[in-house]
This record gives sequence, structure tokens and C-alpha cells, in this order.
Amino acid sequence: MRLIITNSYEQMGFEAANIVAGQIYLKPDSVLGLATGSTPVSMYERLVAVHRTVGLDFSEVTTFNLDEYIGMGSDNPQSYHYFMQDKFFRHINIKPENVHLPDGMAEDMEAEGERYEKLIAAKGGIDLQVLGIGQNAHIGFNEPDVKFAATTHKVELDEETIMANSRFFNHADEVPRYAISMGIKTIMMAGHVILLANGRNKAKAVYKALCGDVTPEAPASILQLHRDVVVIVDREAAEMLPSEIRGVTIARKG
Ligand code: PGA
Repeated sequence: MRLIITNSYEQMGFEAANIVAGQIYLKPDSVLGLATGSTPVSMYERLVAVHRTVGLDFSEVTTFNLDEYIGMGSDNPQSYHYFMQDKFFRHINIKPENVHLPDGMAEDMEAEGERYEKLIAAKGGIDLQVLGIGQNAHIGFNEPDVKFAATTHKVELDEETIMANSRFFNHADEVPRYAISMGIKTIMMAGHVILLANGRNKAKAVYKALCGDVTPEAPASILQLHRDVVVIVDREAAEMLPSEIRGVTIARKG
């Protein structure tokens, strides 16, 4: 694992965007795994700026998102389909047919999970997976007590996740209770992983992910066993990391 601690949320997104852009320059037909939520927004903004200013080319890129709420169609403003169009896809030159998210409206979620996994495999697997982390150390919607061997599947959201995500809704009752998410196995099969976190409310989860036991109770802890992970966090999210770890990090200005 490599750790980059930045001074700001914007700088965290800048560093992440550099890695994503580098991946695309090296392999123009890269397969990217993407995340939603507040965390990656500054990364998307920076990638859009790089596309606009120096022409970073997404025309051969394929994307697979981590998850989607069950029962939400792509035209629902709360859906992750909508979020991705709004924050990223409509601002770049990606081909619509190269964009993939799990279908939260599928009738049979088991079949949808299998379809998604087959599609990822057919594209040659994910080259670079971007992850946020939940306050409960979830990645994607893989909640505590996750099965490490799971691939894309239906999940029941934790109460903590529902409360955390209720900030995007009028009321906690409106947050869907179920989602379809890539599994830990899907994530661990990616060639490279970037884990992003900002803010003090993520410090404990970041500590568990990097320094805790590898346990299904802290799903992100499995990343300790991945061979190529870059963790990019702001100072607040790094707050609980022991100094010996912080000492070997690359601290960036910004
Ligand atoms: P957030 O969500 O970026 O909105 O904090 C991250 C996550 O739950 O994985």
C-alpha cells in the first residue's frame, strides 16, 4: 500500500485524477471501476478539467460503477446512474455504450449480478478501481460482516449507511434499504486500486482499513491483501494513523 496525505479535499481529488489520467495515457482503452458519493466529486471535477484543457481522451475507456440502489431507474435524480451522468459522463467524450452500472430495476438481482460479472470479464477485467469508504469501513455497498468471496450481489444496507446517505434525501425513510453492489472479490480482482477518504468522520474507518485486522467486520481491511493499492486521504481522515505510517508517506501541498 502506498499512502498519500494531502492538505485538502481538492488536492485529494487532484492526486486521484493524476493516477486515473496516467492510467488512460498508458492504456487508452482502460477499464475503470468508479465510485459515487461526495468523496470522488473533486476527482471527477479535475478529470473533466484535464479533458477540457489538454484533451484527456475517454473515447476508448470503459467504466463499471460499484453499485446502484435497488428500485431506482436511471432518470431518478437520487440514482447513481443519474449522479454519474451529472458529475462526470456528460462532461467528457466517453461513449454511452462503454458506461456500465448495475441495473437497480432488474427483476432478478442474482441474474443481474451474473450479467455484470460476465460483462466485466468480457472487457478483460478492471484495470483501475476507485473506491470511497463508509464510516463503517464499507467499500462499494459491502457492509460489515461481508462475505469476502462475494461477487456482484444484492445487499441490505446498514443502518449507519442509511443514516449517512440520508443527507442526500429529504428524509431517512426515503433512502432505499437495498442495493446491488460489486462484491469484495470483484474489487480485489482489479489490477490497481485507489482508496479515497476525506474528513474526520472517516478517520476511524481509514485506521481500520490500513492498520486493523483483516476482518469481514471492516470490509476495507481486505485491501491490505491487494498487491497494488494507493490510499489518498486528507489530513483529517489520516488523523488516527500512527506516526510511523504517516512518517513514510508523501505529504502533498494544497
Ligand atoms: P461518501 O460515501 O463519499 O458520500 O462519504 C462513501 C461511501 O459510502 O463509500
